Amino acid sequence: MTETNELVFNDEMPERYLYEMDEDKHEVALSTSDLAVYYGGDKLALSDADLKFERFKITSLIGASGSGKSTFLRSLNRMNDSVARVDGKIMYRGLNINSSDIDVYEMRKHIGMVFQRPNPFAKSIYDNITFALKQHGIRNKAELDEIVETSLRQAALWDEVKDDLNKSALALSGGQQQRLVIARAVAMKPDILLLDEPASALDPISSSKIEDTLLKLKDEYTIIIVTHNMQQAARISDYTAFFHMGKVIEYDLTRKIFTRPKVQRTIDYVNGNFG
Ligand SMILES: Nc1ncnc2c1ncn2[C@@H]1O[C@H](COP(=O)(O)OP(=O)(O)O)[C@@H](O)[C@H]1O
Ligand SMILES: [Mg+2]
Repeated sequence: MTETNELVFNDEMPERYLYEMDEDKHEVALSTSDLAVYYGGDKLALSDADLKFERFKITSLIGASGSGKSTFLRSLNRMNDSVARVDGKIMYRGLNINSSDIDVYEMRKHIGMVFQRPNPFAKSIYDNITFALKQHGIRNKAELDEIVETSLRQAALWDEVKDDLNKSALALSGGQQQRLVIARAVAMKPDILLLDEPASALDPISSSKIEDTLLKLKDEYTIIIVTHNMQQAARISDYTAFFHMGKVIEYDLTRKIFTRPKVQRTIDYVNGNFG
């Protein structure tokens, strides 16, 4: 346990500060320890990223481009398996899901991912949501209908598409497509949703709809979101981790990161003084 606070004397600032989540008071949905990600065999792209994510909260991952946010996020549900070596532990419900004997396909039902660019299937709105469900053996029409409606409601898209469920998903606007992709992820009833800059390709109104959607979803899901938009992180997240050059430099409650960060680099970043 590093009690960084106690090491701060005479205005001397720590080089790193990671909030220590008290597991008696906060339910931890996912945690990482000794994580290290190498691309191309030996290029260390990420280390020093031991974090605990609280259940039913939103955690933002912020930092400059290339600081390792996506590398970290994608490691959490093993999306890096084919491109990188990932060492360390990722603990989910008492299991190290980074171990080789984990059924990755099964694990991703619990830990879903939404990417930066909306990637609906070239199918109807309805089929986008039911495709994976059917593959997992759900065939009952009434049950599928119910899940389609619930997930579209959760993703704040139902009112806009309820009369057009057979329309191609590709005919939706970018913002609607992204909410459809969120609905598709939610339909699998995951515990944890990982989102990599889900609103960055969208206009401000669509982006704010995504934010509203995430705030609603946090009643039922643990959300970890990469965003390069600091206002967005400040608006929606409970916790924020600041990445710099492949390490987490500071992790704390969002309000602390944006009002009283403890590390000089974080201060520079949130004040826009970075180059
Ligand atoms: N597939 C990859 N192969 C090799 N290097 C990669 C790959 N993906 C990311 N990197 C490198 O890892 C570092 C972190 O990248 P990334 O995680 O994408 O940062 P961010 O999401 O914060 O912009 C960068 O130096 C980037 O060039
Ligand atoms: Mg990225």
